[in-house]
Amino acid sequence: MSKLTVPEEAGRRRTFAIIAHPDAGKTTLTEHILLSGGAIRAAGAVRARGENRRTQSDWMKIEKERGISVSASVMTFEHDGKMFNLLDTPGHEDFSEDTYRTLTAADCAIMVLDAAKGIEPQTLKLFEVCRLRDIPIITFINKLDREAQDPMALLDEIASRLQLDPAPIWWPAESGNRLRGMVEMGTGRFQPYARKPSGSKEDVPHPDALPLADAAQYFEAGEHEALIEAQELVEAGYPAFNVQSFLEGHMTPVLWGSALRHFGIDELLKAIGDWAPAPKVMKARKEAPPETRNAPAPVDLTVEPGSNEVTGFVFKVQANMDPNHRDRIAMFRMASGSFKRGMKLKVQNTGKSLSVNAPIMFFASDRELAEDAFAGDVIGIPNHGVLRVGDSLSESGLIRFAGLPNFAPEILQRVRVKDPLKAKHLKKALEGLAEEGVTQLFRPELGSDFIVGAVGQLQFEVMADRLGEEYGLDVIFEPSPYAEARWIGGDKADVEDFMSKYRPQMATDIDSDPVFLAKSSWETGYVGERFPKIAFTKTKERG
Ligand code: G4P
Repeated sequence: MSKLTVPEEAGRRRTFAIIAHPDAGKTTLTEHILLSGGAIRAAGAVRARGENRRTQSDWMKIEKERGISVSASVMTFEHDGKMFNLLDTPGHEDFSEDTYRTLTAADCAIMVLDAAKGIEPQTLKLFEVCRLRDIPIITFINKLDREAQDPMALLDEIASRLQLDPAPIWWPAESGNRLRGMVEMGTGRFQPYARKPSGSKEDVPHPDALPLADAAQYFEAGEHEALIEAQELVEAGYPAFNVQSFLEGHMTPVLWGSALRHFGIDELLKAIGDWAPAPKVMKARKEAPPETRNAPAPVDLTVEPGSNEVTGFVFKVQANMDPNHRDRIAMFRMASGSFKRGMKLKVQNTGKSLSVNAPIMFFASDRELAEDAFAGDVIGIPNHGVLRVGDSLSESGLIRFAGLPNFAPEILQRVRVKDPLKAKHLKKALEGLAEEGVTQLFRPELGSDFIVGAVGQLQFEVMADRLGEEYGLDVIFEPSPYAEARWIGGDKADVEDFMSKYRPQMATDIDSDPVFLAKSSWETGYVGERFPKIAFTKTKERG
């Protein structure tokens, strides 16, 4: 039982995600952060955990074959008086939609760059999402144990391509075989780097930090003086770190290290604990209960993380985490309140009430029942399809958070089941997967085929695998005549007029919202010009 007040509990939460281009070292860094935080005892555990899960769950075969992580989850650990919730985002670009949604649940992002490669395409995409959502960013430049680009060139790239002021917190003394360590700006503390002795399997611990002036023994001729000079230049040439500017999204503190060699990780974890924001006040709306007649207009309000009512939203639904139970777990990010196991929460848009008797906290080493939770925490709520991505939950059932995006799919395919007697099953299965947010489902107004939309090809493979393994359905994906999907909006009469003219290309999505299926991007542009009163949108916000 917590002795702290609700605002104090919320204030000690740090909920963050790691964003990176594939291969920059996100998985390795995740593992070493957990190691620094005391959540796991040995490196290899995160990978091992993944492997363990893969052997349990067959559709994860794809992960294994491709060596990519397609399932996002959360890892919680307590360290130095703070509760850290690390949201794991899949790295592969086909799953960017999932990643975007996960970022809606994060209060801060760690941007990992490969020191040899700098900013890569996926880094940029993910950064843009963070900027859109005002998520402050801590930069970690990884793989210093390999030959790196010039540190100043890396900082210049951050400044020019991301329009973000880099504030170096540490400065590296060379890289690769000449990596000696790093010096802290402002204090002049030097953290030496210990190389793994050749022939040894084990890393050796890095020596304790000491004043740079006293660290001559760690350098070869001329290097010590060069670093002292570099420190002066960098301190004079770059702005000092300013927390306010960081929280407003103008500045990023830059840390350096090697995830693989566990170098710079304690420093990164300290930066997250010290600077990453606690859960923010969130904008929401208070709606009338769904069954109310002549309902009053919704009222805009702000939700204080330290307030008493439990509120939050579902940003992800994970299926079959435990293959012994066909469970679906809704990942619920709390925005406020003090949650206790067994509590009743209501879904805002349906008014359904559910007793949360077996909420799950995802500790790094294991899953545990959550007895209590606070703003910033993510709890897994097992359910049988009641909860969907974008749902808002609260004690009153009246609070609604908006802003979980659905993105227009980039590939649209027709799906058929080989055994025609199983058509009904297919419908159910496709709806289930769409509700989880694995793929999007469009039901054309005319005809009986389903159109499935995804951001990337890999999503179809995951889907085919899951339809086979979990639902026993052998399906075929075929090309569809459509290239793009757009949600449509506008005045009722205008929308109806448009729909009557384009009936054969109209469909509805899983929420029964109308969608126009265009045969080409040219056609999207053409109808856009012909029907200026209709809004054709690429994203739809659920909630
Ligand atoms: P990701 O999740 O961002 O895709 O990256 P991941 O951690 O899987 O790392 C990608 C590769 O980079 C891995 O090598 C990993 O060992 C390596 N790596 C990560 N951090 C560092 C670092 O600080 N220094 C060096 N030298 N390498 C690093 P791999 O050969 O692809 O995989 P593995 O066989 O080592 O598992």
